[in-house]
Amino acid sequence: MCGIVGYVGRQSAAPILFEGLQHLEYRGYDSAGIAVLDRDGALAVLKREGKLRDLEASLTEMPRGSAGIGHTRWATHGPPSERNAHPHTSAAGEVIVVQNGIVENYRELRAELEPGLAASGRSWQSDTDTEVIPELIARALADGLSFRDALAQAVGRLRGANAVAAVYRREPGRIYAARQGSAGGIIVGFGEDEMFLASDLPALLRHTTSVYHLEDGDIAEIDADGVLVSRGGAPSFAPQPTQVNLDPVAVARGPYRHFMLKEIHEQPRALSDTIRGRARLSPPRALPADLTFSELALRNIERVLVIGMGTSLHAAMIGRWWIEQIAGIPADFDNASEFRFRAPLLGPSTLVVSVTQSGETIDTLGAISHVRERWDAPQLTITNVEGSEATRQADASIVLRCGPEIGVASTKTFVGSLAALYLLACRLGHAQGRLSDAELSGRLEDLLTAPSLVERGLQLSDRCASVMRQFTAASNFLVLGRGIEYPLAMEAALKCKEISYVHAEGYAAGEMKHGPIALLDDGFPVIALAPRGPLFDKMMSAIQQVRARAAPVIAVGDAGDAELDELVDHFIGVPPTSALLTPFSLSPVIQLLAYHIALARGLDIDQPRNLAKTVTVE
Ligand code: AGP
Repeated sequence: MCGIVGYVGRQSAAPILFEGLQHLEYRGYDSAGIAVLDRDGALAVLKREGKLRDLEASLTEMPRGSAGIGHTRWATHGPPSERNAHPHTSAAGEVIVVQNGIVENYRELRAELEPGLAASGRSWQSDTDTEVIPELIARALADGLSFRDALAQAVGRLRGANAVAAVYRREPGRIYAARQGSAGGIIVGFGEDEMFLASDLPALLRHTTSVYHLEDGDIAEIDADGVLVSRGGAPSFAPQPTQVNLDPVAVARGPYRHFMLKEIHEQPRALSDTIRGRARLSPPRALPADLTFSELALRNIERVLVIGMGTSLHAAMIGRWWIEQIAGIPADFDNASEFRFRAPLLGPSTLVVSVTQSGETIDTLGAISHVRERWDAPQLTITNVEGSEATRQADASIVLRCGPEIGVASTKTFVGSLAALYLLACRLGHAQGRLSDAELSGRLEDLLTAPSLVERGLQLSDRCASVMRQFTAASNFLVLGRGIEYPLAMEAALKCKEISYVHAEGYAAGEMKHGPIALLDDGFPVIALAPRGPLFDKMMSAIQQVRARAAPVIAVGDAGDAELDELVDHFIGVPPTSALLTPFSLSPVIQLLAYHIALARGLDIDQPRNLAKTVTVE
């Protein structure tokens, strides 16, 4: 949700911290701040409401100091403001902290700390939950604890998932970090006579590819020469770094105007990377290496439940369709945040599949642990981030290999998740004897056409732009689809909402006449997803009903479909494909429609208001 960076070394910390924050701005961008300590412990703090560029103007005022921490915020407690921006400092000004997560018991902690604060004539300086942390550390220091132990004790008192970085004025050559639960992770980067800290790899790549991911409960004590980690009561250890195989170019925007556009265009390659080695034709086999369950366990699966949030939930809905149609196994989908508070009936023969591009979404992680705590059900996670919390908690993982996704709107990881779910359906169908070798081979050959379907969809970008320019002023869209296109209609509506701020609803076309049709008139555009397939005639009837209410229709159908083209106001023709593969031919178009309306409206596409890329708070 928020982004954390840290630096200690020989260079001036402020510009390095700022550059790191630029790579984390996707995580939160309503305010930002930096704290730097010089060798003598003199402290400089710079905070600004708004985007990082508002902080940049004052960066030159920062004194040179070779240790510091920084933060880019997505507000949870207290509105975006300079007062609520991190870092937060203890009342005596000695302890400086940035945090990602939520201190769920901050009210109790504030009540406990308040008398002491009042007695020293001080009061809280912000509305945040964070501010209790430096205060708790300061109390523990006053009791005689070392800074490391004080930090451990303070973090141990927090409820919720939190990542914390801190500096202490009496230890100017050091930065500290702590991880409690899953709060989007925190990574230590190893340099030559310098060390780094960040919530995510893109902030480190320009400096190092040698990293250590802090685990739940870790306290890290970092100076220019290295890091010592303490975990529980055990003696501290110097962790071995691992090498990450990521090119800094993968996290650069390159010639594209927005990361979202870059990532939309990366989809053919991302899809090929997801599928590579996982669709073996001879002898036919899907996912030969990723599913670590035994063949017997796969044969015994009687039901599949696919869960996720947002775009990942829409992928889950399409996955359900494939698992039923291709594998012939009963399947359901569920919204992870709702599922975890229900008492569904699962058992050892239900495979629970979580879809989460980040692997850190709190609602999905909550659902994964809900399953683990209550049922002995096997769990598979589909994620883009190797080593993410979801991969640690599930029994098996399919890592998408789509490359980092920086734009807040998920695009390439959506199609990557689709490919993984399709492969899963093939594997289950084959393992259970419902797909013969020849049928499996045919399904996999179909999937191998997906990258080129997406590639051809991308060529429709100008057409999508010219259609959407005519609807720049629209306040609403209804998006209709049936069957496998229904979740795509929901995904199209979500994309419109999140980056264009247009109210849009995705509906099953058959449901339209049960209520939404009352909204329609000549100022209410409808997007109809209508490729030729088993439900095409029913889609045509729904479009006729829309036309009869004079609502303008934008139809996305098979290229060359003259009947559909004639019926609607605007027609966008995608490459025709088999009924099960339309999610691949339609996805780039629904993404481009949303992108172009946002562009025409002049909006901040990569950093839409109120959103953050990874949702690690409830
Ligand atoms: C997608 O465009 C959204 N930003 C959002 O709905 C996202 O899909 C959702 O928050 C789930 O994220 P995850 O895939 O990382 O779990």
